[in-house]
Amino acid sequence: MKNTVLVVDDEILIRKSLSRVLREKGYLVEGASTGAEGLEKVESVRPQVIILDMRLPDTDGLSVLRKVRQMDSLVQVIVITAYGDVQSAVEAMKLGACDFLRKPYEKEDIEMAVEAAARTFRQANELDLYRRKEKRRYTGEEIIGTSGPMKEVRDLIEKVVRSQATSVFITGESGTGKELVARAIHYRSDRAQAPLMEVNCSSFQETLLENELFGHERGAFTDAGDLKKGLVELCDGGTLFLDEVADMSMPTQAKLLRFIDYRNFKRVGGAEDISVDIRIVAASNKDLESDIRTGRFRSDLYFRLKVVSIHLPPLNERGDDVLLLARHFLREFSRQFQKDFRDITPDAARLMLSYRWPGNVRELRNLIERVVLLEDGRQLELDHLPAEVAGRRLASDHSIALPTLAQIEADHIAEVLRLAAGNKSRAARVLGISRQGLIEKLRRSRLLDEGGGRQVS
Ligand SMILES: Nc1ncnc2c1ncn2[C@@H]1O[C@H](COP(=O)(O)OP(=O)(O)OP(=O)(O)O)[C@@H](O)[C@H]1O
Ligand SMILES: [Mg+2]
Repeated sequence: MKNTVLVVDDEILIRKSLSRVLREKGYLVEGASTGAEGLEKVESVRPQVIILDMRLPDTDGLSVLRKVRQMDSLVQVIVITAYGDVQSAVEAMKLGACDFLRKPYEKEDIEMAVEAAARTFRQANELDLYRRKEKRRYTGEEIIGTSGPMKEVRDLIEKVVRSQATSVFITGESGTGKELVARAIHYRSDRAQAPLMEVNCSSFQETLLENELFGHERGAFTDAGDLKKGLVELCDGGTLFLDEVADMSMPTQAKLLRFIDYRNFKRVGGAEDISVDIRIVAASNKDLESDIRTGRFRSDLYFRLKVVSIHLPPLNERGDDVLLLARHFLREFSRQFQKDFRDITPDAARLMLSYRWPGNVRELRNLIERVVLLEDGRQLELDHLPAEVAGRRLASDHSIALPTLAQIEADHIAEVLRLAAGNKSRAARVLGISRQGLIEKLRRSRLLDEGGGRQVS
């Protein structure tokens, strides 16, 4: 991966000569002629090294340096000072510049300074990623669950992270943990040192998503402004997580497909092919197959995305995982809110196991957060559960037996027969079936059977 150097200097000749020298050394070079433009570029191109002149037309170099430090704590800044201006060189070093050069400087000086700065950046970056990774492990982004389907999910993740570029497609209802799995794939793979970039395809309009993913050249379209690198480029070496991929427009799908096939792309309005090495993880809570049938999603793209697919079952199909998760969240929020919740009473546990959890793990997590925040005690009790969990119990809770479809049909037939005063021909007409059909149903549901079972009242 090439490092990018941003040269902030109002003199075009200096920018040009520095560009030439650094390009020869294999750097990508961007220029800015004012402090304001420089700050914009820090945001849009995310350089690793900045060469900053202390004297700028719109502002002084020190205040630019201060802002740069706030925006990006890792970027390395080399300041250029006028001959004899020791004071601002000292100030700049205090503010975190990595080096300074006095005018006039030699070509070799600048090459050495940039080389050292790029090296420092790489080390600082690695350290920073390592710390963040440690922190994440420490805060425990674990995937909880020992049920059969979750074991399968974990097995698949383990296999997938052994490969570097295999695309993964994650499906599952809202709140089942798709994002969690995508993060696990990134952070447990050898790509963990490089960035994970996430984009929600449903939150961008058509062309904006393409722009977000692939970036654009300076002035590629009205309002395009300066060059902007897209996420695909920024996460080189890492993982791109395309959330809600079903909402991607057809033109963007075509561009993504091309990218997957060739592993390179052009920025919007650009001519140069840019190659990057990334893994794509896509997720959807919708059934893409029906979008494919109706022509809203390309099947060729679908098959490239789902080289491996991981399905996350709804929470109520994971058995006792509900309680494992609930205890996990109890601990998490007890720590956070300094409470002492440790377990769940058997009554509450029974209800939680029989509830349908339409919002899946997210709903459970939110519920536990609310309980731990609002209630006190050591155990989560029946009374702590909200009405929707405590109220409508479902089939697996044997204290309330729900009717089967056959029972509902039999009850309905009995009711119609009663209204028709037992006249089977009239009842059959009302039910929209033949008289013979009605008799058949009556026999099957044993309504005709005098010996026992249900009787028509
Ligand atoms: N198996 C699990 N173990 C621990 N936490 C989980 C698990 N599954 C989900 N969570 C937590 O539940 C919440 C919802 O998960 P996540 O955001 O990954 O769901 P999602 O499938 O991406 O949902 P959506 O489709 O709505 O975006 C998160 O806080 C996540 O950390
Ligand atoms: Mg999500």
